[in-house]
Amino acid sequence: MSEKSLSAHKDFVAIDDYSLEDLRAILSLAREQKPLARAHKLPHSHPNRTLACVFAKPSLRTRISFEVGFQQLGGNTLFITDKEIGMGTRESVYDVAQVLSRFVDGIMIRWFDHQEVVDLAKHATVPVVNGLTDLNHPCQVMADIMTIEEHLGSIDGKTVVMVGDGNNLAHSWLNAAIRFPFNFILACPEEYTPDEAVVRRAEAAGASFMITHYPREAVEGAHVIYSDAFYSMGQEAEAVKRRRDFAPFQITADLLSAADAGHIVLHCLPAHRGEEITDEVMDGPHSVVFDEAENRMHAQRAILATLIK
Ligand code: CP
Ligand code: NVA
Repeated sequence: MSEKSLSAHKDFVAIDDYSLEDLRAILSLAREQKPLARAHKLPHSHPNRTLACVFAKPSLRTRISFEVGFQQLGGNTLFITDKEIGMGTRESVYDVAQVLSRFVDGIMIRWFDHQEVVDLAKHATVPVVNGLTDLNHPCQVMADIMTIEEHLGSIDGKTVVMVGDGNNLAHSWLNAAIRFPFNFILACPEEYTPDEAVVRRAEAAGASFMITHYPREAVEGAHVIYSDAFYSMGQEAEAVKRRRDFAPFQITADLLSAADAGHIVLHCLPAHRGEEITDEVMDGPHSVVFDEAENRMHAQRAILATLIK
């Protein structure tokens, strides 16, 4: 296996923390390990290692893909909720980082406040992997790039169009565009543009991207159409308003008629079928959403295998 150390970081908190070479190394390990994992033939590279999986939000894919993925390497996993550890309330982030680092060999965390995850990573002596914050979702986009490359070949030069909210996924795509040479377009309502600091960083780094409010023009000739919920975890109280504001941003077969003939459709899931995406598109011939879900496990296992010693 071609596992190698990432040049600069012990943690995986944001995609653009890494060089393109590091990101490519993770993706090629993920590709190498996928058939072995499917055949139940992965060597146990991490026996007697434990990964703590900390969740402040619900999950299907993230929890199961991290737990099963690490167990496939011979490791153990622990599921911990925010209510139990009370990071930042019952105990300081610093103290939680110190204590967890004495017990486990890695921490995966799904949290609200991104800065608290950055602080946890800073104070922990073991690797910390971001399993989604309000600001970004880097492991998802690594799995997405893996999926795009399986179906369309290299992402280099491709156009990826996200139709929807300028949210954590949009931010991770902007971060990815800093490193990978593809073109990113976000078509979002005017009120829902991405975080300005994230946009400025992408601009300053020379990433190829555009933010527009016209989905029909955005998808013209696109190779990848990307969807996410109109409201994210923690925004449930805004659901009614958001459903109204985002109605013209639904991904329909009609909208996709302008995309490249060989386009693929991705959705990080969970999908609200009939809201941001129709059943016809989700279940249609261009949809690769379940390959994408599976690749969460392969991409993340490669991240864990690389970071956890
Ligand atoms: N895509 C994703 O992160 O799914 P879960 O919320 O189910 O983990
Ligand atoms: N933007 C969504 C992604 C879910 C995987 C959320 O944060 O809830």
